[in-house]
Amino acid sequence: MFNVETIRKDFPILSRKVNGKPLVYFDNAATSQTPQQVIDAIVDYYSNYNANIHRGVHTLSQEATDKYEQARQKIQAHFNAKHAHEIIFTSGTTHGINLVANGFSSLLTKDDEIIVSALEHHSNIVPWQMLCERTGASLKVIPMNQDGELVISEFDNLLSNKTKLVFVNHISNALGTINPIEYIIKQAHLVGAAVLIDGAQSTPHIKPDVQALDVDFYVASAHKMCGPTGQGMLYGKEAWLKKLPPYQGGGEMIAEVTFEKTTYADLPHKFEAGTPNICGGIAFGAAVDYMNAIGFDAIAAYEHELLEYATKQLLTIEGLTIYGTSKHKTSVISFNLDGIHPYDVGTILDKLGIAVRTGHHCAQPIMNFYSIPGTVRASFAFYNTKAEIDALVTGVKKAKMMLS
Ligand code: ALA
Repeated sequence: MFNVETIRKDFPILSRKVNGKPLVYFDNAATSQTPQQVIDAIVDYYSNYNANIHRGVHTLSQEATDKYEQARQKIQAHFNAKHAHEIIFTSGTTHGINLVANGFSSLLTKDDEIIVSALEHHSNIVPWQMLCERTGASLKVIPMNQDGELVISEFDNLLSNKTKLVFVNHISNALGTINPIEYIIKQAHLVGAAVLIDGAQSTPHIKPDVQALDVDFYVASAHKMCGPTGQGMLYGKEAWLKKLPPYQGGGEMIAEVTFEKTTYADLPHKFEAGTPNICGGIAFGAAVDYMNAIGFDAIAAYEHELLEYATKQLLTIEGLTIYGTSKHKTSVISFNLDGIHPYDVGTILDKLGIAVRTGHHCAQPIMNFYSIPGTVRASFAFYNTKAEIDALVTGVKKAKMMLS
Protein backbone atom coordinates (compact mmCIF):
# COMPACT_ATOMS: atom_id res chain seq x y z
CA MET A 1 0.00 0.00 0.00
CA PHE A 2 1.34 3.44 -0.98
CA ASN A 3 1.62 5.59 2.13
CA VAL A 4 3.35 8.91 1.60
CA GLU A 5 3.92 9.56 5.31
CA THR A 6 5.73 6.23 5.69
CA ILE A 7 7.75 6.91 2.53
CA ARG A 8 8.77 10.37 3.76
CA LYS A 9 10.42 8.78 6.81
CA ASP A 10 12.95 7.17 4.44
CA PHE A 11 14.27 10.61 3.42
CA PRO A 12 16.23 12.28 6.25
CA ILE A 13 16.51 15.58 4.38
CA LEU A 14 12.73 16.03 4.26
CA SER A 15 12.62 16.75 7.99
CA ARG A 16 15.09 19.65 7.85
CA LYS A 17 14.21 23.33 7.92
CA VAL A 18 15.22 25.96 5.39
CA ASN A 19 15.14 29.60 6.48
CA GLY A 20 13.33 28.51 9.61
CA LYS A 21 10.51 26.83 7.65
CA PRO A 22 9.94 23.11 6.96
CA LEU A 23 11.62 22.24 3.66
CA VAL A 24 9.24 21.85 0.72
CA TYR A 25 11.36 20.26 -1.97
CA PHE A 26 9.90 20.84 -5.43
CA ASP A 27 13.10 20.73 -7.49
CA ASN A 28 12.93 17.02 -8.19
CA ALA A 29 13.42 17.38 -11.94
CA ALA A 30 16.86 18.86 -11.19
CA THR A 31 17.76 16.16 -8.69
CA SER A 32 15.75 13.87 -6.48
CA GLN A 33 16.35 13.31 -2.78
CA THR A 34 18.09 10.24 -1.39
CA PRO A 35 16.43 7.64 0.83
CA GLN A 36 18.24 6.13 3.83
CA GLN A 37 18.44 2.78 2.00
CA VAL A 38 20.68 4.38 -0.70
CA ILE A 39 22.67 6.36 1.87
CA ASP A 40 23.24 3.07 3.73
CA ALA A 41 24.52 1.42 0.54
CA ILE A 42 27.02 4.27 0.09
CA VAL A 43 28.17 4.09 3.74
CA ASP A 44 28.42 0.28 3.54
CA TYR A 45 30.65 0.50 0.46
CA TYR A 46 33.11 2.96 2.01
CA SER A 47 32.96 1.32 5.45
CA ASN A 48 33.34 -2.29 4.40
CA TYR A 49 34.58 -3.08 0.91
CA ASN A 50 36.03 0.01 -0.80
CA ALA A 51 38.44 -1.29 -3.47
CA ASN A 52 39.12 -1.00 -7.18
CA ILE A 53 37.20 -3.43 -9.36
CA HIS A 54 38.08 -5.89 -12.12
CA ARG A 55 41.72 -5.58 -11.11
CA GLY A 56 42.53 -7.40 -7.90
CA VAL A 57 42.62 -10.97 -6.66
CA HIS A 58 42.18 -9.77 -3.11
CA THR A 59 38.90 -10.19 -1.26
CA LEU A 60 37.86 -6.54 -1.12
CA SER A 61 38.36 -6.11 -4.86
CA GLN A 62 36.34 -9.22 -5.58
CA GLU A 63 33.52 -8.13 -3.26
CA ALA A 64 33.40 -4.68 -4.86
CA THR A 65 33.48 -6.20 -8.36
CA ASP A 66 30.63 -8.57 -7.53
CA LYS A 67 28.45 -5.80 -6.09
CA TYR A 68 29.18 -3.50 -9.04
CA GLU A 69 28.28 -6.18 -11.57
CA GLN A 70 25.19 -7.13 -9.56
CA ALA A 71 24.14 -3.48 -9.80
CA ARG A 72 24.55 -3.65 -13.58
CA GLN A 73 22.26 -6.69 -13.60
CA LYS A 74 19.69 -4.80 -11.53
CA ILE A 75 19.74 -1.97 -14.08
CA GLN A 76 19.49 -4.51 -16.91
CA ALA A 77 16.44 -6.11 -15.29
CA HIS A 78 14.88 -2.72 -14.55
CA PHE A 79 15.08 -1.58 -18.18
CA ASN A 80 14.50 -5.10 -19.51
CA ALA A 81 17.69 -5.09 -21.61
CA LYS A 82 18.47 -8.42 -23.23
CA HIS A 83 22.07 -8.53 -21.95
CA ALA A 84 23.84 -7.01 -18.92
CA HIS A 85 26.66 -5.92 -21.25
CA GLU A 86 24.21 -3.64 -23.08
CA ILE A 87 24.22 -1.45 -19.94
CA ILE A 88 27.18 0.95 -19.94
CA PHE A 89 27.77 2.79 -16.69
CA THR A 90 28.31 6.51 -17.31
CA SER A 91 28.64 9.63 -15.21
CA GLY A 92 25.10 10.66 -16.23
CA THR A 93 22.77 11.30 -19.14
CA THR A 94 25.05 13.92 -20.70
CA HIS A 95 27.97 11.48 -20.73
CA GLY A 96 25.83 8.80 -22.40
CA ILE A 97 24.68 11.18 -25.13
CA ASN A 98 28.22 12.39 -25.81
CA LEU A 99 29.46 8.81 -25.95
CA VAL A 100 26.97 7.98 -28.71
CA ALA A 101 27.47 11.30 -30.55
CA ASN A 102 31.20 10.77 -30.56
CA GLY A 103 30.80 7.19 -31.78
CA PHE A 104 28.85 8.31 -34.83
CA SER A 105 31.60 10.71 -35.97
CA SER A 106 33.07 8.12 -38.30
CA LEU A 107 29.69 6.77 -39.45
CA LEU A 108 28.11 9.95 -40.87
CA THR A 109 28.78 11.97 -44.02
CA LYS A 110 27.78 15.46 -45.13
CA ASP A 111 24.70 14.10 -46.90
CA ASP A 112 23.24 12.64 -43.72
CA GLU A 113 20.60 14.21 -41.51
CA ILE A 114 19.99 14.10 -37.77
CA ILE A 115 16.60 14.92 -36.24
CA VAL A 116 16.19 16.38 -32.76
CA SER A 117 13.15 18.03 -31.21
CA ALA A 118 12.27 21.54 -30.13
CA LEU A 119 11.68 20.20 -26.62
CA GLU A 120 15.25 19.11 -25.94
CA HIS A 121 17.50 19.93 -23.03
CA HIS A 122 20.77 21.51 -24.19
CA SER A 123 22.51 18.20 -23.53
CA ASN A 124 20.45 16.63 -26.32
CA ILE A 125 21.14 19.51 -28.73
CA VAL A 126 24.76 20.60 -28.34
CA PRO A 127 26.46 17.17 -28.75
CA TRP A 128 24.56 16.66 -32.03
CA GLN A 129 25.50 20.14 -33.26
CA MET A 130 29.11 19.24 -32.48
CA LEU A 131 28.64 15.97 -34.37
CA CYS A 132 27.29 17.93 -37.36
CA GLU A 133 30.32 20.24 -37.22
CA ARG A 134 32.63 17.22 -37.31
CA THR A 135 30.85 15.35 -40.10
CA GLY A 136 29.06 18.01 -42.19
CA ALA A 137 25.70 16.30 -41.50
CA SER A 138 22.70 18.58 -40.97
CA LEU A 139 20.43 18.99 -37.96
CA LYS A 140 16.64 19.10 -38.42
CA VAL A 141 14.22 20.04 -35.66
CA ILE A 142 10.72 18.69 -34.95
CA PRO A 143 8.76 21.84 -34.01
CA MET A 144 6.55 22.25 -30.95
CA ASN A 145 3.08 23.76 -30.48
CA GLN A 146 1.66 26.17 -27.91
CA ASP A 147 0.73 23.32 -25.54
CA GLY A 148 4.37 22.25 -25.49
CA GLU A 149 3.82 19.15 -27.62
CA LEU A 150 5.78 17.98 -30.63
CA VAL A 151 4.12 18.54 -34.00
CA ILE A 152 4.37 14.96 -35.08
CA SER A 153 3.11 15.53 -38.64
CA GLU A 154 6.24 17.67 -39.11
CA PHE A 155 8.38 14.80 -37.87
CA ASP A 156 6.84 12.62 -40.57
CA ASN A 157 7.77 15.29 -43.14
CA LEU A 158 11.36 15.54 -41.90
CA LEU A 159 12.01 11.80 -42.12
CA SER A 160 13.70 10.57 -45.30
CA ASN A 161 16.30 8.09 -46.37
CA LYS A 162 18.88 10.76 -45.47
CA THR A 163 17.86 10.52 -41.79
CA LYS A 164 20.48 8.52 -39.92
CA LEU A 165 19.73 9.43 -36.30
CA VAL A 166 16.76 10.67 -34.28
CA PHE A 167 17.17 12.06 -30.76
CA VAL A 168 14.22 12.93 -28.58
CA ASN A 169 13.63 13.12 -24.86
CA HIS A 170 11.04 10.80 -23.38
CA ILE A 171 9.76 13.62 -21.14
CA SER A 172 10.58 17.33 -21.43
CA ASN A 173 12.48 18.60 -18.39
CA ALA A 174 11.15 22.14 -18.77
CA LEU A 175 7.46 21.39 -19.40
CA GLY A 176 6.85 17.78 -18.38
CA THR A 177 5.38 16.76 -21.77
CA ILE A 178 5.50 13.02 -22.41
CA ASN A 179 6.56 12.54 -26.02
CA PRO A 180 5.12 9.81 -28.28
CA ILE A 181 8.39 7.91 -28.44
CA GLU A 182 6.82 4.60 -29.51
CA TYR A 183 5.62 6.24 -32.75
CA ILE A 184 8.90 8.14 -33.23
CA ILE A 185 10.98 4.97 -32.87
CA LYS A 186 8.75 3.00 -35.23
CA GLN A 187 8.74 5.65 -37.97
CA ALA A 188 12.50 6.29 -37.66
CA HIS A 189 13.20 2.59 -38.07
CA LEU A 190 11.15 2.51 -41.27
CA VAL A 191 13.78 4.75 -42.90
CA GLY A 192 16.67 2.88 -41.24
CA ALA A 193 17.54 5.60 -38.68
CA ALA A 194 18.81 4.81 -35.19
CA VAL A 195 17.00 6.39 -32.21
CA LEU A 196 18.38 7.65 -28.91
CA ILE A 197 15.89 8.49 -26.18
CA ASP A 198 16.93 10.81 -23.35
CA GLY A 199 15.28 9.28 -20.31
CA ALA A 200 16.64 11.67 -17.68
CA GLN A 201 13.14 12.93 -16.86
CA SER A 202 11.12 9.79 -17.53
CA THR A 203 12.99 7.28 -15.38
CA PRO A 204 11.94 8.92 -12.07
CA HIS A 205 8.29 8.35 -13.03
CA ILE A 206 7.97 5.33 -15.30
CA LYS A 207 9.75 2.08 -16.02
CA PRO A 208 10.81 1.94 -19.67
CA ASP A 209 11.08 -1.45 -21.39
CA VAL A 210 13.85 -1.01 -23.95
CA GLN A 211 13.05 -4.25 -25.78
CA ALA A 212 9.34 -3.48 -26.09
CA LEU A 213 10.24 0.03 -27.28
CA ASP A 214 12.80 -1.46 -29.69
CA VAL A 215 14.89 1.63 -28.99
CA ASP A 216 18.54 1.71 -30.09
CA PHE A 217 19.90 3.81 -27.22
CA TYR A 218 18.33 4.95 -23.96
CA VAL A 219 20.14 7.16 -21.44
CA ALA A 220 19.39 8.10 -17.83
CA SER A 221 20.87 9.55 -14.63
CA ALA A 222 20.85 7.90 -11.21
CA HIS A 223 20.43 11.17 -9.30
CA LYS A 224 16.99 11.83 -10.78
CA MET A 225 15.78 8.49 -9.41
CA CYS A 226 16.86 8.57 -5.76
CA GLY A 227 20.47 7.60 -6.54
CA PRO A 228 23.74 9.52 -6.35
CA THR A 229 25.04 12.26 -8.65
CA GLY A 230 27.89 11.44 -11.03
CA GLN A 231 26.30 8.15 -12.07
CA GLY A 232 24.14 7.18 -15.01
CA MET A 233 23.58 4.54 -17.63
CA LEU A 234 23.53 4.13 -21.38
CA TYR A 235 21.55 1.26 -22.80
CA GLY A 236 22.57 0.37 -26.33
CA LYS A 237 21.53 -2.54 -28.51
CA GLU A 238 24.42 -4.98 -28.61
CA ALA A 239 24.88 -4.61 -32.38
CA TRP A 240 25.19 -0.82 -32.10
CA LEU A 241 27.58 -0.95 -29.15
CA LYS A 242 29.78 -3.39 -31.06
CA LYS A 243 29.76 -1.09 -34.09
CA LEU A 244 30.57 2.17 -32.27
CA PRO A 245 34.24 2.86 -31.49
CA PRO A 246 35.30 3.45 -27.86
CA TYR A 247 34.68 6.93 -26.48
CA GLN A 248 37.68 7.18 -24.16
CA GLY A 249 40.93 5.24 -24.06
CA GLY A 250 42.50 4.03 -20.85
CA GLY A 251 42.77 1.21 -18.37
CA GLU A 252 40.31 -1.69 -18.38
CA MET A 253 38.87 -0.90 -21.82
CA ILE A 254 41.56 -2.87 -23.63
CA ALA A 255 42.16 -6.51 -24.57
CA GLU A 256 45.86 -6.03 -25.36
CA VAL A 257 48.15 -3.03 -25.63
CA THR A 258 51.37 -2.80 -27.60
CA PHE A 259 52.96 0.31 -29.07
CA GLU A 260 52.09 -1.05 -32.51
CA LYS A 261 48.41 -1.74 -31.90
CA THR A 262 45.80 -1.94 -29.15
CA THR A 263 42.75 -4.15 -29.21
CA TYR A 264 39.67 -3.36 -27.19
CA ALA A 265 37.88 -5.23 -24.44
CA ASP A 266 34.45 -6.76 -24.93
CA LEU A 267 31.27 -4.96 -23.92
CA PRO A 268 30.60 -3.28 -21.58
CA HIS A 269 34.25 -2.61 -20.65
CA LYS A 270 35.12 -1.15 -24.07
CA PHE A 271 33.17 1.96 -23.02
CA GLU A 272 34.28 2.10 -19.38
CA ALA A 273 37.87 3.38 -19.40
CA GLY A 274 39.51 4.17 -16.08
CA THR A 275 38.34 3.56 -12.54
CA PRO A 276 34.57 4.03 -12.61
CA ASN A 277 32.30 5.53 -9.97
CA ILE A 278 32.16 2.17 -8.17
CA CYS A 279 30.13 3.36 -5.21
CA GLY A 280 27.86 5.30 -7.59
CA GLY A 281 27.07 2.18 -9.62
CA ILE A 282 26.29 0.15 -6.50
CA ALA A 283 24.14 2.96 -5.06
CA PHE A 284 22.31 3.26 -8.41
CA GLY A 285 21.38 -0.41 -8.00
CA ALA A 286 20.13 0.30 -4.47
CA ALA A 287 18.05 3.24 -5.77
CA VAL A 288 16.42 1.10 -8.44
CA ASP A 289 15.61 -1.53 -5.79
CA TYR A 290 14.11 1.18 -3.60
CA MET A 291 11.87 2.60 -6.32
CA ASN A 292 10.76 -0.82 -7.50
CA ALA A 293 9.80 -1.77 -3.95
CA ILE A 294 7.43 1.22 -3.93
CA GLY A 295 6.29 0.34 -7.45
CA PHE A 296 6.17 2.52 -10.55
CA ASP A 297 2.41 2.12 -11.04
CA ALA A 298 1.79 3.49 -7.55
CA ILE A 299 4.35 6.27 -8.11
CA ALA A 300 2.77 7.34 -11.42
CA ALA A 301 -0.78 7.30 -10.03
CA TYR A 302 0.13 9.35 -6.94
CA GLU A 303 2.23 11.87 -8.87
CA HIS A 304 -0.62 12.33 -11.34
CA GLU A 305 -2.89 13.19 -8.42
CA LEU A 306 -0.34 15.77 -7.22
CA LEU A 307 -0.06 17.23 -10.72
CA GLU A 308 -3.83 17.62 -11.11
CA TYR A 309 -4.22 19.13 -7.65
CA ALA A 310 -1.35 21.59 -8.08
CA THR A 311 -2.49 22.63 -11.57
CA LYS A 312 -5.98 23.37 -10.30
CA GLN A 313 -4.77 25.28 -7.24
CA LEU A 314 -2.15 27.35 -9.08
CA LEU A 315 -4.64 28.33 -11.79
CA THR A 316 -6.81 30.01 -9.14
CA ILE A 317 -4.10 32.72 -8.96
CA GLU A 318 -4.93 35.56 -11.31
CA GLY A 319 -2.13 36.41 -13.75
CA LEU A 320 -0.48 32.99 -13.47
CA THR A 321 0.30 31.21 -16.75
CA ILE A 322 1.31 27.57 -16.98
CA TYR A 323 3.64 26.62 -19.85
CA GLY A 324 3.22 23.02 -20.97
CA THR A 325 -0.46 22.16 -21.09
CA SER A 326 -0.38 18.82 -22.85
CA LYS A 327 -2.77 16.13 -21.62
CA HIS A 328 0.24 13.84 -21.67
CA LYS A 329 2.49 15.21 -19.01
CA THR A 330 4.22 14.23 -15.85
CA SER A 331 4.45 16.03 -12.51
CA VAL A 332 6.22 19.20 -13.68
CA ILE A 333 4.59 22.64 -13.64
CA SER A 334 6.38 25.54 -15.30
CA PHE A 335 4.72 28.89 -14.69
CA ASN A 336 5.11 32.65 -14.55
CA LEU A 337 3.28 35.51 -12.89
CA ASP A 338 2.40 38.41 -15.19
CA GLY A 339 5.12 41.05 -15.24
CA ILE A 340 7.26 39.34 -12.57
CA HIS A 341 10.65 37.76 -13.22
CA PRO A 342 10.77 34.03 -12.32
CA TYR A 343 14.00 34.54 -10.36
CA ASP A 344 12.23 36.96 -7.99
CA VAL A 345 9.42 34.48 -7.36
CA GLY A 346 11.97 31.71 -6.71
CA THR A 347 13.86 33.88 -4.24
CA ILE A 348 10.74 34.64 -2.20
CA LEU A 349 9.70 30.97 -2.24
CA ASP A 350 13.15 30.04 -0.94
CA LYS A 351 12.69 32.40 1.99
CA LEU A 352 9.56 30.35 2.77
CA GLY A 353 11.54 27.08 2.64
CA ILE A 354 10.21 26.11 -0.81
CA ALA A 355 12.77 24.89 -3.36
CA VAL A 356 11.86 25.36 -7.05
CA ARG A 357 14.02 25.86 -10.11
CA THR A 358 13.93 29.17 -11.95
CA GLY A 359 15.40 30.16 -15.31
CA HIS A 360 15.58 28.55 -18.74
CA HIS A 361 16.07 25.01 -17.40
CA CYS A 362 18.83 24.33 -19.95
CA ALA A 363 16.13 24.51 -22.64
CA GLN A 364 16.56 27.97 -24.17
CA PRO A 365 14.80 27.07 -27.47
CA ILE A 366 11.60 26.37 -25.49
CA MET A 367 11.85 29.73 -23.71
CA ASN A 368 12.48 31.44 -27.07
CA PHE A 369 9.38 29.75 -28.48
CA TYR A 370 7.26 31.29 -25.71
CA SER A 371 9.26 34.58 -25.81
CA ILE A 372 9.98 34.43 -22.09
CA PRO A 373 13.29 34.61 -20.20
CA GLY A 374 12.44 31.56 -18.14
CA THR A 375 9.87 30.08 -15.79
CA VAL A 376 9.40 29.02 -12.21
CA ARG A 377 9.38 25.22 -12.27
CA ALA A 378 7.83 23.11 -9.52
CA SER A 379 8.51 19.42 -10.05
CA PHE A 380 6.95 16.81 -7.78
CA ALA A 381 8.11 13.41 -6.62
CA PHE A 382 6.26 10.55 -4.94
CA TYR A 383 7.36 11.80 -1.49
CA ASN A 384 5.67 15.20 -1.89
CA THR A 385 2.25 15.97 -0.42
CA LYS A 386 -0.84 18.05 -1.14
CA ALA A 387 -0.09 20.05 2.02
CA GLU A 388 3.23 21.04 0.45
CA ILE A 389 1.39 22.12 -2.70
CA ASP A 390 -0.87 24.28 -0.52
CA ALA A 391 2.30 25.88 0.92
CA LEU A 392 3.52 26.56 -2.64
CA VAL A 393 0.23 28.18 -3.63
CA THR A 394 0.29 30.39 -0.52
CA GLY A 395 3.92 31.26 -1.27
CA VAL A 396 3.20 32.21 -4.87
CA LYS A 397 0.32 34.42 -3.74
CA LYS A 398 2.64 36.09 -1.26
CA ALA A 399 5.30 36.60 -3.96
CA LYS A 400 2.68 38.13 -6.23
CA MET A 401 1.58 40.53 -3.50
CA MET A 402 5.14 41.58 -2.69
CA LEU A 403 6.33 41.95 -6.29
CA SER A 404 3.29 43.44 -8.04
N1 ALA B 1 18.37 18.80 -16.25
C1 ALA B 1 18.09 19.17 -14.91
C2 ALA B 1 16.87 20.06 -14.80
O1 ALA B 1 16.02 20.03 -15.63
C3 ALA B 1 19.25 19.72 -14.20
O2 ALA B 1 16.78 20.80 -13.85
